[in-house]
Amino acid sequence: MDTLIARAVTDLKNARNAVALTGAGISIESGIPPFRGKGGLWERFDPMEIAHIDAFVADPELVWRVLVKELKEVIDRALPNDGHKGLERLGRMGILKTVITQNVDGLHQAAGSTDVIEFHGTFAWQRCTECETRVPTRDVDASVLPPRCSCGGILRPDAVLFGEMIPPEALWRSQEVAARCDVMLVIGTSAVVQPAASMPIIARQSGARVIEINPEPTPLTGAVSSYLIRGGAGEVMNRIMAALEHPG
Ligand code: APR
Repeated sequence: MDTLIARAVTDLKNARNAVALTGAGISIESGIPPFRGKGGLWERFDPMEIAHIDAFVADPELVWRVLVKELKEVIDRALPNDGHKGLERLGRMGILKTVITQNVDGLHQAAGSTDVIEFHGTFAWQRCTECETRVPTRDVDASVLPPRCSCGGILRPDAVLFGEMIPPEALWRSQEVAARCDVMLVIGTSAVVQPAASMPIIARQSGARVIEINPEPTPLTGAVSSYLIRGGAGEVMNRIMAALEHPG
């Protein structure tokens, strides 16, 4: 790992326009379970039954019961970890320009990162299915499910459910950012969900170095990414930042 850390430090030092793509893996060390793999949410629930728009329309109470228990309560307790903080410091150094995240937990912003594209929306806000009013999740009374807007409409997470489109602004900006970057850090994603998993391909095709940080290889490894640093986001980002902030 030392050689790869040194390589990443060199690539980041030489970068004029570095960006990051993050997934659920970067928030595991904050106590938020991933979707796939060991302890993944989709090992316990069928995503088509609790995270698809058709399922929400068919039975919003069921979706709310699971989402609230499994996501809201966990997100409400979560704090940014060294992975999120490392990216924030990389941003403050002027190296990292933008974070594209698939996560709906708001932890990049909580760590202080300023340019964050929420590719799958956010769980920090709920949206009325009737009048489109947005309400901060912390103000939602979840004692009665499904919670309702003052207009009487059912509230839903302002996040992208399966079967729904990526918000056009988020998609357009991410494609543009990926095409212009010279280094893309790909942290904590299994890279199996489209179109997010295409961002590293756009970056690589545009000549960027794609650096994966993940304890496990992904479909990008050896095919799209320039190299994989096998390890947890917190530990690897700490080592990269230590070398960048205290050279020699
Ligand atoms: N640090 C970094 N990565 C880790 C860590 C860690 N400590 N622990 C596990 N990982 C890696 C896993 O090896 C896996 O590759 O994080 C990845 C998590 O993958 P997923 O759970 O599939 O999460 P993600 O890629 O973000 O899922 C994409 O799928 O279900 C939908 O909308 C949901 O945004 C989500 C999308």
